[in-house]
Amino acid sequence: MNNNQPDWGHIAEKFDLWLPHIAPVGEALLNALNAQSGDTILDVASGTGEPALSLARRMGNTIRIIGTDAAEGMVNVAQKKVLNEKLSHIQFQHMAAEALNFPDAAFDKIMCRFGVMLFEDSLQGLKQMQRVLKPGGRFAIAVWSTPETMPTLRWAYQVFQNRIPTDKYPPLHKVTSLGSPGILDNMLQQAGFSRYTLRPITFNYHFPSFDDYWNVVEQSDILKMQYDVLPEHQRNIIRSEIASLAHAFTGKNGLIIPHEFLLAEGTK
Ligand SMILES: C[S@@+](CC[C@H](N)C(=O)[O-])C[C@H]1O[C@@H](n2cnc3c(N)ncnc32)[C@H](O)[C@@H]1O
Repeated sequence: MNNNQPDWGHIAEKFDLWLPHIAPVGEALLNALNAQSGDTILDVASGTGEPALSLARRMGNTIRIIGTDAAEGMVNVAQKKVLNEKLSHIQFQHMAAEALNFPDAAFDKIMCRFGVMLFEDSLQGLKQMQRVLKPGGRFAIAVWSTPETMPTLRWAYQVFQNRIPTDKYPPLHKVTSLGSPGILDNMLQQAGFSRYTLRPITFNYHFPSFDDYWNVVEQSDILKMQYDVLPEHQRNIIRSEIASLAHAFTGKNGLIIPHEFLLAEGTK
């Protein structure tokens, strides 16, 4: 994987630690998708399976879902859940978004949560999604917004900056690459989508305390690439500097950190 993204395949077993925190984004996508009995649905860059699995559990055998992801480890974790729960109407496949191996117009609905901005070629991924969506089919895509609206990654960027080699900095630019006004809009049009709305939505990461937040950061290995090159004696500094940055977001209800994403929803 490129651009300093975490090595998704390697952290796959730990990625679920983040799922409760991004669940509101999944609900927004599922609302926008409005799945109906009989639908065939694609979840692109499906990671460890959410929100596709939630939809599969809710709708049962009335729908068919395929999830695809470029990281084999992620696909394996998702597919393990399918087997454990004996679900027969959902499956996950190893596949890059830029080369979706499906016929044209194969799906009634397509969704993607926090994938498109990470693709090596985001436009090509969107073109593929447009190609495999049926005319009149619905799509819903969530990408992270601007760096200012993504405090947790900005904090990480700030504290690792000047401590590790530039080419290992946290992937703030890649992750927020489609967040500035006009960029996703432009790309969706280039990909052939014309009937859609695009809007920013704010939701909160909510942790009982900073320690709970930091445990998820550490246990998920989301910053492993940066820690691997950080001089040993600076390791404690990272935690304490991020704790000071997070202080402004801590109150009697714990640590509440607003984040913004862009939701694109529409029809082909
Ligand atoms: C932040 S995770 C999101 C996973 C899942 N959609 C979710 O919201 O829980 C990003 C996912 O995008 C996948 N990914 C990155 N580049 C990709 C590409 N070119 N094609 C398919 N998947 C890709 C990664 O492997 C990873 O599983």
